[in-house]
Amino acid sequence: MSSAPPVTPSRPSSNGAVHAQRPPTGSANGTIPYKDSDSNALWAVVSLMLGILVAVLGFFALMMWADAHNAKDAANRAAAKVSKAAAGATSDLGALRSYAGAAPSNADALAAAHKPFSAALPAAPAGPVADVNLTLKDVTVQIAPGVKYSGWAWAGGAPGPVIHVRQGQLVKITLTNKGAIPHSVDFHAARIAPDKAFGDVMPGKSVSYTFRANDAGVFMYHCGTKPVLMHIANGMYGAIVVDPKPGVLPKADKNYVLVASEWYLSSDGLKAPAQFNMDKAHARMPDWMTFNGYAGQYVKHPLTARPGELVRFWIVDAGPSIDTDFHVVGTIFDNAYPFADLSSPTSALHNVQTVTVPAGGGGVFDVKIGKPGLYPFVSHAFAAVDEGQVGLLKVGNVKGTMSH
Ligand code: CU
Ligand code: CU
Repeated sequence: MSSAPPVTPSRPSSNGAVHAQRPPTGSANGTIPYKDSDSNALWAVVSLMLGILVAVLGFFALMMWADAHNAKDAANRAAAKVSKAAAGATSDLGALRSYAGAAPSNADALAAAHKPFSAALPAAPAGPVADVNLTLKDVTVQIAPGVKYSGWAWAGGAPGPVIHVRQGQLVKITLTNKGAIPHSVDFHAARIAPDKAFGDVMPGKSVSYTFRANDAGVFMYHCGTKPVLMHIANGMYGAIVVDPKPGVLPKADKNYVLVASEWYLSSDGLKAPAQFNMDKAHARMPDWMTFNGYAGQYVKHPLTARPGELVRFWIVDAGPSIDTDFHVVGTIFDNAYPFADLSSPTSALHNVQTVTVPAGGGGVFDVKIGKPGLYPFVSHAFAAVDEGQVGLLKVGNVKGTMSH
């Protein structure tokens, strides 16, 4: 470029027009006057080329400027829109403010005094028939230290009793409704016409139905009366374990059942029991998330195992709406049976870290931990941990507690 004539870079003017400097030679209409001299001719050609280049560059500069200008306008409009939306969202979210973390000053003492829901799997009944009696009841339940909730649940609170049967057993369900409104019970372990078995039971009445537990796994049961979202969120859910035939699962030394669920509160529940908040439930913005109905209860009261024992977790995610990403901190699942498929030993995954248990589904997870210590189990979707879905597996005789 050093031998070329000086060229002023074209710039957009303030009104967007471009003043591209014309080449120093050439006529107004761009034709080149004839010259005898080769050097003059060459010069003319070079000048023309430069002129075209400058015009082209100018054109692109204009386009880029216009583009940038438009982009800036669009960005400004979008920003205005976003800040307007954010202002609206803030006020909407204000109405859905989470009460997670609400606690009285003696929360720690209350957590220590709380009698945890037994996570130990009860024995399956002997014989060909498993009789299961369930009673629905309107009860106030404790869902976190000092936090009361006005539930529609079971005689023993929420979740309902852990039911344990063996594959092939006939399960005879008797449901008694001691609540104020109609309820029902839907067993995911059953292959049965729901309109026949899962119908509403009027207050004060009982119904019975049977199903054969032909499918092994861990399954949810729940009230299926409309609005189901509300009946589940109010505490009407539980787990049934169906043992597979021998040979599918390795023998476990410890069996723990955890039912994951969410709570949507109308108030903090500290003075008076909170009630269900449908807006939060629709927005899937729970206040508390729990294993077996009470936030962090196995942090204060850890589940236990000896070093080297095979510990089996039977997980049901009752939802009503949020999945559980089950993970045990400090170890890896030796065997994981996603979706609680126990149809054969080959259903297992091995050496995996975190497995999703869907809302309305189950999962079975084996860990074998050699080193003594405190191993948190969590839903690794970590908002769930902040809202209470965390517990500890205490391996060996170790002191203290921890949160994660
Ligand atoms: Cu119900
Ligand atoms: Cu269901």
